[in-house]
Amino acid sequence: MAFRSVPISFITVLLLFFFPVSRSIPFIVLHGIGDQCSNQGVKQFTENLSSFSGSKGYCIEVGDGTWDSWFKPLEEQTEIVCEKVKKMKELSEGYNIVGLSQGNLIGRGVVEFCEGGPPVKNFVSLGGPHAGTASVPLCGSGIFCIIANNLIKAEVYSDYVQDHLAPSGYLKFPNDIPKYLEKCKFLPKLNNELPDKRNSTYKERFSCLQNLVLIMFKDDKVLIPKETAWFGYYPDGAFSPVLPPQKMMLEGFTSSVWQEVI
Ligand SMILES: *[C@@H]1O[C@H](CO)[C@@H](O)[C@H](O)[C@H]1NC(C)=O
Ligand SMILES: *[C@@H]1O[C@H](CO)[C@@H](O)[C@H](O)[C@H]1NC(C)=O
Repeated sequence: MAFRSVPISFITVLLLFFFPVSRSIPFIVLHGIGDQCSNQGVKQFTENLSSFSGSKGYCIEVGDGTWDSWFKPLEEQTEIVCEKVKKMKELSEGYNIVGLSQGNLIGRGVVEFCEGGPPVKNFVSLGGPHAGTASVPLCGSGIFCIIANNLIKAEVYSDYVQDHLAPSGYLKFPNDIPKYLEKCKFLPKLNNELPDKRNSTYKERFSCLQNLVLIMFKDDKVLIPKETAWFGYYPDGAFSPVLPPQKMMLEGFTSSVWQEVI
């Protein structure tokens, strides 16, 4: 899923005017699946956002980029980003995260799980599968897509697929919730969905964000349902209706949450 263009002016406005203190705060960009920091789209996005906002911006790569974005489990991807941000002196006073699609889950993982990492101030999420997705992103063609497609066709909640296909960490089939809760290794933990493993520290850390901006693409065909970008999702056991976000994880969120449609 290559980079999709987003109105950069809008995000710049957010960074500059709505978060006035963020002018000097650096930001990191976490790209989506199948993308990499060296690709023109995400590279220009980072550069443009940086030059328009006057803040330093860094695209943080996981491993070799495209390949690892598909095949490295999200928990490992999160650990890699956590280690990288800890080593960046530029971020030590705090930073903002701009997440693109799958990159948002890594970003949230960093906010919630990264022990001793620099503080995250604001989080701008563009089309993040925050409440999961009921469909696997289309891979396209090429050798690694053949591998990905074969994994997708296998049992998604098996240990093997969980350990070898990043999106299996947030695939949430409404008709298979018990399996999802039992076997899916990333999202249930990230969203504190497991009653016996709920950890208030994750929620506290997430709620410490000064601002959370959730942007949903109104014509999104990749995220099913598109409202997952706002933490909206299906009820357990059915593919309709889409429950509004306040019924989901944002309950009790204390800082300001903006939801934008573009
Ligand atoms: C970045 O800015 C250039 C020049 O203004 C523009 O042509 C390009 O489309 C922008 N790219 C992105 C990804 O926003
Ligand atoms: C919750 O998470 C924090 C941070 O990772 C950890 O220190 C703590 O032990 C966890 N608490 C429980 C009850 O698992």
